[in-house]
Amino acid sequence: MTASSAEDTAMRRAIALAARAVGDTSPNPVVGCVVLDSAGDVAGEGFHAFAGGPHAEVVALREAGERAQGGTLVVTLEPCDHQGRTGPCSRAVIAAGVRRVVYAVADPGPVAGGGACRLADAGIEVERGVRAAEAERVNAEWLTYARLNRPHVTWKFAGTLDGRSAAADGTSQWITGPEARRDVHRLRARCDAIIAGSGTVLADDPHLTVRGFDPHDHLRTHRRPLRVIADGRARIRPESRVLDDAAPTLVAVAEDADPRALEGRAALVRLPRAGRGLDLTALLAELRERQIVSALLEGGPSLAGSFLAAGLVDRVIGYVAPVLLGAGAAALGDAGVTTLAQAYRLEIDDITPIGPDLRITATVGARASGAEGAPGQALRAASRDATVADEPAMVIARPAPPRREN
Ligand SMILES: NC(=O)c1ccc[n+]([C@@H]2O[C@H](COP(=O)([O-])OP(=O)(O)OC[C@H]3O[C@@H](n4cnc5c(N)ncnc54)[C@H](OP(=O)(O)O)[C@@H]3O)[C@@H](O)[C@H]2O)c1
Repeated sequence: MTASSAEDTAMRRAIALAARAVGDTSPNPVVGCVVLDSAGDVAGEGFHAFAGGPHAEVVALREAGERAQGGTLVVTLEPCDHQGRTGPCSRAVIAAGVRRVVYAVADPGPVAGGGACRLADAGIEVERGVRAAEAERVNAEWLTYARLNRPHVTWKFAGTLDGRSAAADGTSQWITGPEARRDVHRLRARCDAIIAGSGTVLADDPHLTVRGFDPHDHLRTHRRPLRVIADGRARIRPESRVLDDAAPTLVAVAEDADPRALEGRAALVRLPRAGRGLDLTALLAELRERQIVSALLEGGPSLAGSFLAAGLVDRVIGYVAPVLLGAGAAALGDAGVTTLAQAYRLEIDDITPIGPDLRITATVGARASGAEGAPGQALRAASRDATVADEPAMVIARPAPPRREN
């Protein structure tokens, strides 16, 4: 049996509901849910608003009340089967007397997954994969975290139309207009960590905090993403703005560095060296330990090049200004591409004018050849398994299971 048109419409609504909480649920996924009564009319809806809050299914079932009996529950992620801070959704769905469950994406986590089997065992009809691609997109950060066992990384940059991130004399503030810069604060407010290299901190002394939101947007105004500085040689100045108390900061230094000047100013972590700096896989493993689901990589070009070369960039957001410089630093440093056949060819998800500039959002897919790591490809392989096969997607080796808090 396939999804009815009422179920398909309900799934679109459930995805829109899930999208409302993007950035607010970490370390949990975003989930939206719609309950249809036995006549196919909407009886209840809801979304998971924050970690520790009720799950989407519970909110929607509560609103539906008796009308859930014999009805259909439509949800963006497989209902969990796990007792955490809240009870397992699979049990709540069974107790509500729902006849059918339609979900989009399988839960890849070994901890919370398995709800579909419990539902089927209870005699509930289960349909999976409805609007899976859209539901994957809205939950990209958490699915990367769960499947690849590392934070999802978005590299954000501002560049000119001819691909420069600074002029020949090093000046780079500001390439884009105030609207684009405000939009960056929206991105920061949705992520758990902001990463920059020591070169950017030394050159620009950025603050890397969330600012400039409307007072009514209280939840996001108070978000304080962890500031993460890759500073192999412990070169950043103790008076750098990223070391103030406006938000927590983690400075990653090499095992042989002398970080005494930074002690007491930020949390410090020692990492092995690899390539042109710190081992970035080890850096992301450190962030994973801190339950960082999504990271915004704000540069600069050297660090971004290394992240890309290591296969650790999932999404790129470029703010492109209608400005020409002709000389100056490139937006992206060496990313291991020596011939066109090795180029990273991205899939564009969105192009939006922001004031006088353009914001281009793209997903990093497979490199044509010579790829050291291609996160889009790995994730797509995992997600294909999650959508088509009956087992949870476990194709990626992972040292420790992800924790989905409830
Ligand atoms: N337009 C934009 O969007 C944008 C954004 C950011 C920066 N910028 C500009 O970029 C310029 C700074 O460029 P940058 O390339 O020097 O800055 P960067 O990429 O922020 O920092 C580079 C430094 O990071 C450290 N690092 C640690 N691990 C690394 C690794 N695995 N790979 C590479 N580097 C690693 C290295 O220093 P250690 O050896 O000390 O570890 C390296 O010298 C500034 O002019 C700034 O204005 C522009």
